[in-house]
Amino acid sequence: MDRMRWLATGLCVAGAAGALWSLNWFAGQLYPEAKPGKLAYAPADAMPPRVDMAAVQRDWPASLLAPGEGNRLIAYRQDMQGKAPAPAAGAAGAAAAPQADLGTLLTGADANAGKAKAQLCLSCHDLNQGGPNRIGPNLWGVVGRPVATHAGFAYSPAMKEHGGNWSYESLFAFLASPARDVPGTKMSFAGLRRPEDRAAVIKYLATLGNGAPPPPAPKPAARSESAR
Ligand code: HEC
Repeated sequence: MDRMRWLATGLCVAGAAGALWSLNWFAGQLYPEAKPGKLAYAPADAMPPRVDMAAVQRDWPASLLAPGEGNRLIAYRQDMQGKAPAPAAGAAGAAAAPQADLGTLLTGADANAGKAKAQLCLSCHDLNQGGPNRIGPNLWGVVGRPVATHAGFAYSPAMKEHGGNWSYESLFAFLASPARDVPGTKMSFAGLRRPEDRAAVIKYLATLGNGAPPPPAPKPAARSESAR
């Protein structure tokens, strides 16, 4: 009889342990534990946005039950949040953006923003009048200056072969990607990818020196394009 009681107690304990374990397992499935370096939940951005269905039914022209309509709505909402490029409405804007010519960019550029961006250049260039050459040549009055002519700086052969003056256009091309524009240049700088940043830096550089040449005029064609 005693042995039976022990057996029953043992079975009860084992059963309870098993039940607890499976409960724990289910809870783990429902509420995954946060692990360091790993998100317990997908970030909210990746989830479909929460939608007030009643308002949507009123506003959305086609029935949401029509095939593909739900996806179109989600894409539309992401457009509105600036998450995805607008495919249809963007056509006019996207076409105008690459056409923004240097003159237009320079007109809209802010020399103060350019000064802030030019901090990137200061590790190698001195910008002061009469300042020294550093890793790169002194850049006082560089806009309009003949290329590779600053006294006392040992330019690379590639830069010496460049020829011409540092015009707004040639600086704009050079600063986008120095190594691509002047293969073999000593200037190990990746470049300023955004045209607006380049225009701002050049506008700032043009304020240093004894009168830079006038900037190129904005192209009227580009303006009427974007106005369309
Ligand atoms: C890592 C250092 C480094 C950085 C950062 C750098 N430059 Fe240079 N730069 C150089 C060197 C070195 C040269 C000389 C290139 C050669 O001789 O091939 C040079 C040359 C130039 C020239 C040609 C000057 C001349 O007299 O012909 C211009 C213009 C110029 N840099 C502008 C800039 C601007 C603007 C920035 C910031 C956006 C910048 N650089 C950032 C190192 C640098």
